[in-house]
Amino acid sequence: MKQKEKIFYCCSECGYQSIRWLGKCPNCGSWNTLTEEIRKRRETQEQEKARPCPLDEVVMEEHPRLSTGVAECDRVLGGGLVSGSLILLAGEPGIGKSTLLISLVGHLASETGKVLYVSAEESLTQVKLRASRLGVSGPHLYLLATTELPLVKEALLQLKPRVVVIDSIQTIFDPDIPTTPGSVTQVRENTSYFMSLAKQTGISIFLVGHITKEGAIAGPKLLEHMVDVVLSFEGEARSQLRILRSLKNRFGATQEIGVFSMEEHGLREIPEASGIFLPDFHQMLPGAIIFPAQEGTRTLLVEVQSLTTPTYYGVPKRSVSGLDYNRVSMVLAVLEKKLHYNFGTHDVYINVGGGLKVEETGADLPLALSCVSSLKDLAPRTACVAMGELALTGEVRPIGQISQRLKEAARFGFQSAIVPQGNSRDVPATGLQVYPVRWLKEAVEFCLKGT
Ligand code: TYD
Ligand code: MG
Repeated sequence: MKQKEKIFYCCSECGYQSIRWLGKCPNCGSWNTLTEEIRKRRETQEQEKARPCPLDEVVMEEHPRLSTGVAECDRVLGGGLVSGSLILLAGEPGIGKSTLLISLVGHLASETGKVLYVSAEESLTQVKLRASRLGVSGPHLYLLATTELPLVKEALLQLKPRVVVIDSIQTIFDPDIPTTPGSVTQVRENTSYFMSLAKQTGISIFLVGHITKEGAIAGPKLLEHMVDVVLSFEGEARSQLRILRSLKNRFGATQEIGVFSMEEHGLREIPEASGIFLPDFHQMLPGAIIFPAQEGTRTLLVEVQSLTTPTYYGVPKRSVSGLDYNRVSMVLAVLEKKLHYNFGTHDVYINVGGGLKVEETGADLPLALSCVSSLKDLAPRTACVAMGELALTGEVRPIGQISQRLKEAARFGFQSAIVPQGNSRDVPATGLQVYPVRWLKEAVEFCLKGT
């Protein structure tokens, strides 16, 4: 293998590369984040071997799948763990990544063969303590506490495991790469080593990755492009609820979620999750509208809450949690301009109950209704759910998977649903009274008596 070396500068926040040192990263705007790195160009023999091949002659590779023993996890992975895949599990520190992985590999070790768990953050005793707390044991699960890549390589040669866990990729260090541990080059080169290992040997590899406060996977975004699957483990530190979400999956659908509860003896699966974010009973209160959110194949009924209070000093305050801030501003602007509600003199607080982050535009309509409901102090007329995307013209636009959303709402005892007129044809018979609306104004008039 021939190697050429070249010095360049790389931003530790976003991975931007420059041939000169700069005080401020031109890509992400961070100060003093460009550090010197050395790029080694590898010209492998394999690259020389690659030849164009007619599509008809391509031999399809089989992707056998292993069950992780955790049904929620199998579903998020697209039906189980694919042999030879590289999976990044990202999440904030303390959210439960190590807990999830040790329970997964516990099952894999007892069912499928040897598993190597490399702990680059905790000692063997700490990992063993966690494993016994979770009831994980067995002769096929091997632990290795090291941060050095050469030691990991040695262990892999000796052990020849089926599955490997690297906890975490940011703390693994290759002394042959002349940069500090955790630098962009270290993380990239080590990930690339694990990628080729997975492809050549068929070993499935989990990499644990920390995310920064802003929610980006620490180090370069590049890591996400290199791996086959990106799973994100989310939740509020104060609440027990944890959500495993697939952000990228070369072997299955994305945006699929698995729901867990973090308990004393580990993570408990919650297969029946539709109603977990709902309040205990449906009381119709001003400012609260239920939205059946769709996460992959799952429907979760969530409460979109608004509170508006008059502004006494200065600029009106907007505080948003669980929804996109810009989307909330847009919905408030449509309410001001098209329906003439005056939010300019009010502070507005928006929250999604239970701490779930809703990214769908289908939440526009329930959001608009809850804002008007709070502003006018009017409760919804019936126990209803609402869904629909808002156009800047004040029109309610159709959204996807309406049928499943309505079925779940009916199952949880709601009486009526406000849906976009464009979706009228997709409405199943559920026992719900369905009100198709074309304009936001009609939805407000139907939902809130007396506006
Ligand atoms: P951990 O898996 O160490 O998080 P990460 O690897 O993402 O940093 O989990 C940390 C938290 O989980 C810790 O605060 C304790 C809690 N926990 C439980 O509540 N129950 C359990 O059975 C275990 C093992 C951990
Ligand atoms: Mg950990």
